[in-house]
Amino acid sequence: MADKKAQLVIEGAAPVELPILTGTVGPDVIDVRGLGATGHFTFDPGFMATASCESKITYIDGDKGILLHRGYPIEQLAEKSDYLETCYLLLNGELPNAEQKAQFVSTVKNHTMVHEQLKSFFNGFRRDAHPMAVMCGVVGALSAFYHDSLDINNPQHREISAVRLVAKMPTLAAMVYKYSMGQPMMYPRNDLSYAENFLHMMFNTPCEIKPISPTLAKAMDRIFILHADHEQNASTSTVRLAGSSGANPFACIAAGIAALWGPAHGGANEAVLTMLDEIGDVSNIDKFIAKAKDKNDPFKLMGFGHRVYKNRDPRATVMKQTCDEVLRELGIKNDPQLELAMRLEEIALTDPYFIERSLYPNVDFYSGIILKAIGIPTSMFTVIFALARTVGWISHWKEMLSSPYKIGRPRQLYTGYEARDIVKLEDRK
Ligand code: SDX
Repeated sequence: MADKKAQLVIEGAAPVELPILTGTVGPDVIDVRGLGATGHFTFDPGFMATASCESKITYIDGDKGILLHRGYPIEQLAEKSDYLETCYLLLNGELPNAEQKAQFVSTVKNHTMVHEQLKSFFNGFRRDAHPMAVMCGVVGALSAFYHDSLDINNPQHREISAVRLVAKMPTLAAMVYKYSMGQPMMYPRNDLSYAENFLHMMFNTPCEIKPISPTLAKAMDRIFILHADHEQNASTSTVRLAGSSGANPFACIAAGIAALWGPAHGGANEAVLTMLDEIGDVSNIDKFIAKAKDKNDPFKLMGFGHRVYKNRDPRATVMKQTCDEVLRELGIKNDPQLELAMRLEEIALTDPYFIERSLYPNVDFYSGIILKAIGIPTSMFTVIFALARTVGWISHWKEMLSSPYKIGRPRQLYTGYEARDIVKLEDRK
């Protein structure tokens, strides 16, 4: 992988040769691991030009708007696969055959329940707590229940932890919602598919068990697929960093949930709906576009822009198609928020500010409109993102731990005081 070299010439020092590593596809990387010997570090706040690891899980071509999971385009997975198959692919590297799929689905089904005592954790939260605050707490609390499988150096423990997390996230997410509603929590059912089960636990009650709409279940499963993984984004990098210290998988996923919550990241789906409500009407779009362009205004067009995609996010394209399908099949005509979102996209994408900066709709721009049509409240949108992304997080965690790794410990450019002595309190001015 390293037959090319970069040469770094530092004034007053001998040139330094740095290997250039080449991947299967995508940009080459300059291996700077040897740079420390020169007494220099690289400086790259926000990791704008830094690869943190080698991975085989997901590839993004930001210029072409390509997203591959283990080589399969997201469009094909959304169209021809389902979420649990995508989970198997991300975790194991290959799509399952019929027997492997049946076995995986059955294993996941048999781990969907959570320990009965976990319910007590909810009572410490106010009913109006933000669902992501509760998710951070209860997912981290899972560490307290699985002492039989917290040895991260044991491949079997890593395997069972991955299955437990994929299986239990829908149950926990639905419990978070039911707690916020003051309704009884619903147990998972083994006769339902993964997405049907989630919608059952979300919207059914002990008093009435309604059949789950196949349209909504398919849309939910599609949304899970579109959010499953996205290489080294902020929350996945957080999970890898937490995992590099040897923290248990449940604590690492809780850290990922916390990082995802931010409106610049997974919190954007909730922020898009809030923004659309704030804009209210097509006549206000120009005002908000101006705010988004105003450097003195912190307002950004939520659901637009991406660190990697400098073309349309392929997930946004599939999300928009799903949005049209769901609204049509639900008989929702002229959904005002969808109309507003489409008009906003149209206007933004003709504006030089957005074109020059390659700011296109990302995965979060249309997802909220579908989630709302399914009946999920805005405050639960990022919980859905966390539910779906758990398989990506845990796949990266597994990949990192399956080969030699080092604890993540970045360095810094220090611009604070040099060493100085403390002055006695009575002598300070
Ligand atoms: C996700 O990393 C991932 O893969 C994330 C994700 C995943 O699946 O894990 O894809 C999920 O987090 C999608 C992104 C959701 N976030 C939002 O929709 C929030 C709005 N977007 C922005 O906050 C922003 O675009 C980011 C955070 C997504 C990307 O930020 P970058 O890469 O640091 O880019 P930047 O802030 O340096 O922006 C470059 C320029 C700046 O203007 P100039 O200084 O060059 O004049 O574009 C401007 C920014 O001000 N800009 C925007 C904008 N996004 C960037 N201006 C207005 N509205 C926006 N949305």
